[in-house]
Amino acid sequence: MAKSTLSFVCQNCGAAYNRWQGKCESCGEWNTLAEEDTSGSVPVSIRSKRKGRTFALESLAGRSPDAPRLSSGMTELDRVTGGGFVRGSVLLVGGDPGIGKSTLLTQATSLLARAGHRVVYISGEEAVAQVRLRAERLGLSDAPVQLAAETSVEDIVSTLSEGAVPRLIVIDSIQTMWTDTVESAPGTVTQVRASAQALIRFAKKTGAAIILVGHVTKDGQIAGPRVVEHMVDAVMSFEGEGSQQFRILRAVKNRFGPTDEIGVFEMTGLGLREVTNPSELFLSERDLGTPGTAVFAGIEGTRPVLVELQALVAPTSLGTPRRAVVGWDPSRLSMLLAVLEAHCGVKLSGHDVYLNVAGGLRINEPAADLAAAAALVSSLVNAQLPTDAVYFGEISLSGVVRPVAQTPARLKEAAKLGFQRAVLPESARGETSADAGLSLNAVNSLTTLVAEIAARGSRRGESNGPAEKNATPARFRRGDG
Ligand code: TYD
Ligand code: MG
Repeated sequence: MAKSTLSFVCQNCGAAYNRWQGKCESCGEWNTLAEEDTSGSVPVSIRSKRKGRTFALESLAGRSPDAPRLSSGMTELDRVTGGGFVRGSVLLVGGDPGIGKSTLLTQATSLLARAGHRVVYISGEEAVAQVRLRAERLGLSDAPVQLAAETSVEDIVSTLSEGAVPRLIVIDSIQTMWTDTVESAPGTVTQVRASAQALIRFAKKTGAAIILVGHVTKDGQIAGPRVVEHMVDAVMSFEGEGSQQFRILRAVKNRFGPTDEIGVFEMTGLGLREVTNPSELFLSERDLGTPGTAVFAGIEGTRPVLVELQALVAPTSLGTPRRAVVGWDPSRLSMLLAVLEAHCGVKLSGHDVYLNVAGGLRINEPAADLAAAAALVSSLVNAQLPTDAVYFGEISLSGVVRPVAQTPARLKEAAKLGFQRAVLPESARGETSADAGLSLNAVNSLTTLVAEIAARGSRRGESNGPAEKNATPARFRRGDG
């Protein structure tokens, strides 16, 4: 009989320990250890006696008989996967509950089924009737998707092994799956890992593409099995803010494509609608005429995306002022505030600072520094920035505005959306082609930008009288640039 080995497995990172302890030494999380049987997915008796078989070795130049990628028919989804689902690959889609994972995958599977592919949707969370109800709402009831509500991996694998190999299998969700080969309860790391392993084996053997749906914990990790992230070929996260209709699909890992592309969707009463021009969407509810907003001309993957950055700088009533950021890196904000203070004489230590990226987008580009700085200073001196200007440029620790990649693409998108001017790094001026037709304001140091905005503030302050007292640039020492 197989010897049962009980150990304590961290449900966050999968590290195993002989005895219980409060904190996982591997990932530093508290109270994540649970007792599990880790004797492995293969019984010991088989493991020890099995003699290795020989297999044929292949050349790199070999050709696969079918097209290696299966286009989903949804442009935004294909953009993120890198051109479609790869044969025999396994993709993990993570996201908060209710964000629209099942909706997205119902739509994608229906399109593929209508195109004549064998597509299977296994729901471990919802009954067949519930999935049907959703399909009905989406107007997709007629699509020949093969549907089942099952949770046993063995049953699923044997069922799918019959007949033609499915082109795409959706498992919604991996946390509900369980396999006989391990004894832990469903949902534990060991179960999830063993189930994922069995499904991955099936995908590689048959060439079917599999999409695993994964739940996300409070802090944004795909719940428990971070281990699964290492096993699959691609990890996508489906994000969005509950209050807003935008949903963003982002590749976190992709063995067959880029990881910097985003797919933008809008949740409507009839399911997810693809948004092919995200800039228009992100700028659609612009608050024109308020200080503290600046439009950033960014790049997401290969596509320019214009988005509004909103800042609020207000005197603090706390000993330690608050800094809160949504959609941007908080340490980047700290750096920017330090540069503003050290090189431009902008004192913010007595102010709460809030920064928000409109529309629920998350920006990773350092090129957003200049736009963020402009929004912050604009809010501080209560001076509105020109509404027809876009900003981009990276700011170094010395306060110099550094060039960023893809300047022409950013300018072209800005011109397309009716912007008249761009504030950009001095060194980028050379690489801009004349066709964008924007008036360019090249700045080489942050001090220059701050001085320009402060001048707007003081002009406004003079004309508006004492009500605009805050607008005077008295907070500025002389800059050192
Ligand atoms: P769902 O796909 O079930 O989310 P997940 O699988 O990620 O948990 O989507 C649930 C939400 O989407 C639900 O709050 C209702 C909303 N929704 C719409 O707004 N329109 C629609 O057409 C559908 C199907 C869902
Ligand atoms: Mg769901």
